[in-house]
Amino acid sequence: MSEVGVPITMREYSTDRIDLRSDTVTQPTSAMRDAIFTAVVGDDVLGDDPTVKALEMKAAKMLGKEAALYVSSGTMANAVAIRAHTNPGDEIVMEANCHIYTYEGGGYAALSGCSVALVKGENGIISADGVGAAIRKTKGSQGHYPDTTLVCLENTSNRGGGSCYPVETIDEICAISKAQDCAVHMDGARLFDAVVASGVSAARLVENCDSVSICLSKGLGAPVGSILAGSADFIDQAHRWRKMFGGGMRQAGIIAAAGIFALENNVDRLADDHARAARFGEAVNAMDGFSVELSAVQTNMVYVALTAGQDAGILVNRLADQGVDLFDISSTSLRAVFHLHVTDEDVDAAIAAFANI
Ligand SMILES: Cc1ncc(COP(=O)(O)O)c(C=O)c1O
Repeated sequence: MSEVGVPITMREYSTDRIDLRSDTVTQPTSAMRDAIFTAVVGDDVLGDDPTVKALEMKAAKMLGKEAALYVSSGTMANAVAIRAHTNPGDEIVMEANCHIYTYEGGGYAALSGCSVALVKGENGIISADGVGAAIRKTKGSQGHYPDTTLVCLENTSNRGGGSCYPVETIDEICAISKAQDCAVHMDGARLFDAVVASGVSAARLVENCDSVSICLSKGLGAPVGSILAGSADFIDQAHRWRKMFGGGMRQAGIIAAAGIFALENNVDRLADDHARAARFGEAVNAMDGFSVELSAVQTNMVYVALTAGQDAGILVNRLADQGVDLFDISSTSLRAVFHLHVTDEDVDAAIAAFANI
């Protein structure tokens, strides 16, 4: 709000703060709000909502899968995928700092009854050898081991700093997993960042994955919603689990319209976020007291490591005093995320704020 209580529309953001906490803070722009306003809706639980259907078909096509399901969040997409791919007592292989393991409340255990085997990644990226070594099977173990039936990947990797999987690595992991009767689910919350950074299509990146989730409400700018895609059979099962998890939504076309708008208008512009992240990372890395692993800055995130015994929490407060918001990830690291409400001038101001502390 401005001083006189009028919403500030500069940068189409309802605050004049430079908000680098996450790309989840993005708000629908006026053009997206127009699409929401005119959406034709129906009862999606009864299969009547044409806008939800249109979004699901569009997303399935972009992801090269037979079918797709609209769900409320990335966490729900992953939870439904895990439940549909596994049985209680199964084990899932995933990267040690991935979102499903770190930030989804242990849903894999509570909702699907699964254990996890963690593989250490390089900037969040795991190798086919690492996955192969982590897969365990009951058969041949005198019943000692659980059955690994699922491998989860994350592209881009959030805790890996927004890093991207080479498509060859995904293919190798899928091959090794398939040979061991394991499905592969791709947590593609930011898959389109990987598409824009790598120049490889979404469909090709996940060609060999059994399922993929994407978030519409992060860099793509929709207010709510994620997509889970896979074979028609898999999506049939996922539909049932979505219902049981309480995720059936009625006139959901009102928000699905924003998802369609996002897929049609906000994919290519992710390149701007990446360029701003790179410029910010280079500038901060050149300052005393901070270091950024520039090779890991591949998309819209920058992890800043603090040197010289500085405390991340204190720095966050000092930056906030200058109008720049970001999160401390540990006591010695900060994360800045670039998105559609961050302009070139904002990047200049954020760099100046770092130089000032
Ligand atoms: C990689 C990744 N997967 C899944 C999610 C979960 O998305 P949501 O917040 O919509 O549940 C996030 C959220 O930040 C994420 O970064």
